[in-house]
Amino acid sequence: MRHSQLWVSSLLLLLLAKSQHALRTPEKNDYSVLQTSVFLSPPFFLRPGSVANEFLFNIPFPRGHIALKSFDAEVVDENGVPVPLHETYLHHWVIERYYGEKATQSDHDLSKIILARNSGVCEETLGQYFGLGSETRKTSTWVPEPFGIEVGDPKKIPSGYEERWLLNIHAIDTRGVKDRSGCTECKCSLYNVTVDEFGHPLRKDYIGGLLCCYDKTRCQLRDGFNGAEARKLYLRYTVKWARWDESIVPVKIYIFDVTDTGKVSEGQPSSCKVEYRVDSCAPEVVQDGECLDTRKTSVVIPRGGDIVYGVAHQHSGGLGSALYGQDGRDLCTSVPTYGNGEEAGNEDGYIVGMSTCYPKPGSVKVADGETLTLVSNYSSAQMHTGVMGLFYILVAGPQAPPKSRLLFHDLTLSWREDLREYWWAFLVVGVIAVVIIRMSYSRKNGEGYQSL
Ligand SMILES: *[C@@H]1O[C@H](CO)[C@@H](O)[C@H](O)[C@H]1NC(C)=O
Ligand SMILES: *[C@@H]1O[C@H](CO)[C@@H](O)[C@H](O)[C@H]1NC(C)=O
Repeated sequence: MRHSQLWVSSLLLLLLAKSQHALRTPEKNDYSVLQTSVFLSPPFFLRPGSVANEFLFNIPFPRGHIALKSFDAEVVDENGVPVPLHETYLHHWVIERYYGEKATQSDHDLSKIILARNSGVCEETLGQYFGLGSETRKTSTWVPEPFGIEVGDPKKIPSGYEERWLLNIHAIDTRGVKDRSGCTECKCSLYNVTVDEFGHPLRKDYIGGLLCCYDKTRCQLRDGFNGAEARKLYLRYTVKWARWDESIVPVKIYIFDVTDTGKVSEGQPSSCKVEYRVDSCAPEVVQDGECLDTRKTSVVIPRGGDIVYGVAHQHSGGLGSALYGQDGRDLCTSVPTYGNGEEAGNEDGYIVGMSTCYPKPGSVKVADGETLTLVSNYSSAQMHTGVMGLFYILVAGPQAPPKSRLLFHDLTLSWREDLREYWWAFLVVGVIAVVIIRMSYSRKNGEGYQSL
């Protein structure tokens, strides 16, 4: 090997070692680093008028003992372009945690999986960790500092199992349909459905809701509309997370439902119906412009603490929702934002965002076993079927006051990420610089330059 070659390769090695070292050092404090992972769900296919209600097991998700900091999602097409709600109405997506047998990769046999539910009180339904609908693009899911949703704790995973995630996406393609809002509200007549997915006849008074817009049903198209081909769609989801660390304060997830009638009797599950119907007000009331449907229910929160985040989920027609303490104090009020344009994220007439509550930690407390009141308001100027009145809160249990240190450094992360991605560029620039210096040095000393 020529002298200069040896020289450059040893320098290269040195530089490589150095850059790797620079990358490794901060990992000692990895708990302080916010990670961002972006995933695409498996594809789903929709023709005009058709419905997809997909249950996707073992989806891509960050692994290990981590704190979840946010989960944001939206529907995109094959080219990654966001699809507006007036084309694909996102009825809901929910993400559920479960334990699946290590030996099995497909988890469709529900008797073999163990659902790991949130702390909420609806025992049969609403066990998700995150879930939203049309409002997903403009609703914050951020879990404030120093809190986090703790998952993947190896001590809690039954042996022989591993933690996995299930994504349920319910979407309706409303291109070319006869009655767009009727299709999004799952009116049974538009779907020509009289029996549910399992063949059970529907109750006479059931005129709309999830039982009528199950997977592969089709909403009535406009006369003469030429159905286009099926479109390939994805849910693109962004998870922010950090490796679990003692300085992160865990929070419990509670989801309350305004249709919850409480425990029917001891040992009976709490009955959450998830959806309900808003009947239109009497014509004489319409004239007064006072057509408000107010639903109210009482729910008991088993474990108290500090509320650190709150948000409601409502459908079109929703006017806001609030959660009150036993003494009537306002714990959180969440109101919808309606779009007024065409573009994704601002679709006219749809709820495109829900306001969230971020109380100063310690300022909004609930007690163990406190009875809370949930209120959900809808406009009843017209009938709405299949609406929801859910309220999602994060509660930090009573414990040592959180450390004031800033836990997540988004900025630090971004330059580190840059460094990770472009370390070779630094290296190349370094090597070129060395060669140039070496060249001019050689010239100055009158040595003949030997090409590499
Ligand atoms: C509606 O469903 C019934 C059977 O359930 C079928 O006979 C009828 O053709 C359907 N109508 C339309 C318009 O699809
Ligand atoms: C719901 O409606 C009632 C009137 O029935 C009103 O007092 C309350 O402020 C409303 N709440 C929200 C959150 O919109």
